[in-house]
Amino acid sequence: MTGEKQKEKDIGKRDFIDFNAALWKYNGEKGAMIPLLQLAQDTYGYIPEFAIDSISEIVGIPSAEIYGVITFYSQFRLKPFGKYLIRICEGTACHVNGAKSILRAIEDELGITIDETTDDGMFTFLSVACLGCCSLSPVMMINEDTYGRLTPAKARDIIRNYKKNIKEVTA
Ligand code: FES
Repeated sequence: MTGEKQKEKDIGKRDFIDFNAALWKYNGEKGAMIPLLQLAQDTYGYIPEFAIDSISEIVGIPSAEIYGVITFYSQFRLKPFGKYLIRICEGTACHVNGAKSILRAIEDELGITIDETTDDGMFTFLSVACLGCCSLSPVMMINEDTYGRLTPAKARDIIRNYKKNIKEVTA
């Protein structure tokens, strides 16, 4: 299997074709780097290495410089999100109701810090400003599910349940 074919298989053929079609529209435009990075991220949920190489070719800027830009802007990601995206709220209501201690408990439970993904690719942990359900504070969301009135122990139990379910599914 060629490198290009493997990429198509890994990331989904349609996304790959759509991204490449959009990419070539910008041929030679140096100012297109940021829109193209955004496009890659919108397409894949992160910016894969091959997309950086393709963008480098299109805009004529070395890949190393493009990496520099990606790491400068916090909205760009070099790794995909985990299967479960945990968003802990650190907005005012959650903050005054102990969000920090929930955050620490989850970090401890997963062995990662904010903005990281577990090595098995299962969990990504993010901090957000407000999830819009302040009356339930402190709050976190895991994918589309909301968990409110958290305590550190409750947060740990929720994470442990997810881990248990993952184990059962993969056993
Ligand atoms: S401050 Fe946390 S949900 Fe609004």
